[in-house]
Amino acid sequence: MLEFLKREKIKIEKEKMPQHIAIIMDGNGRWARKRGLPRSAGHRFGAQKLKEIVLFADEIGLKYLTVYAFSTENWKRPKEEVENLMNLLREFFDTEIENLINKTQIRIRVIGDISKLDKDIQERIVSAEEKTKDKKGLCVVIALNYGARQEIINAVKNLALDIKSGKIDIGDVDEDLFKKYLYTNDIPDPDLLIRPSGEMRVSNFLLWQISYTEFWFSNVLWPDFKKEHLLKAIEDYQKRERRFGGVK
Ligand code: FPP
Repeated sequence: MLEFLKREKIKIEKEKMPQHIAIIMDGNGRWARKRGLPRSAGHRFGAQKLKEIVLFADEIGLKYLTVYAFSTENWKRPKEEVENLMNLLREFFDTEIENLINKTQIRIRVIGDISKLDKDIQERIVSAEEKTKDKKGLCVVIALNYGARQEIINAVKNLALDIKSGKIDIGDVDEDLFKKYLYTNDIPDPDLLIRPSGEMRVSNFLLWQISYTEFWFSNVLWPDFKKEHLLKAIEDYQKRERRFGGVK
């Protein structure tokens, strides 16, 4: 990797590494169309890219990588594409994730309302989370049937129930307490959000958690995303001054 950094003239400072990067893996469909391939081929290459970036993120010592794999809005896609994505997910858990479980210290977490996914997919998720829960390497957080507004509403409902039952006093509700009701209650907020494919929007991803996250956009389509892009995003991130609303 050092050789590569030198060649690309990329300077990464170890002390300033982000601990959590989030990625909106966008552009699979356009990547396929450009090659005259079906959209499913784009998703298949996108999944391979995910495996490559997960391994690389672990290698460079990243602590958390959150990826947007299927949103609460993605059900609106044609039935065939949804089925295709679900089958790809099954295959991904059975091959790539199984491999990661056996060969690495990577931990798998899933965020989102998985109760709406087929039972066999839910079982694969629970099993991967259970098998990796004590691992100490990169934590890969896969957002599946995830929507940030849905996450916040779910949190509000559960908090309201706890207030109603007397478990929580309304005067004690603050940001730290609210966070406990989110899917990401034990995960630090992302330092950096990457969105490839030229789109510059957040698409209902981690709305609460990205309040002070740095954004990095690129025109490259997700299946073409390379380790170099990840390193360039980290290099650019390290040049930013994060003030969290204060002054330096
Ligand atoms: C966005 O590209 C991508 C998705 C909605 C799905 C993301 C899925 C993968 C990267 C692969 C599957 C992942 C797993 C974990 C198996 P798009 O279809 O919106 O592309 P477009 O905007 O070019 O049409």
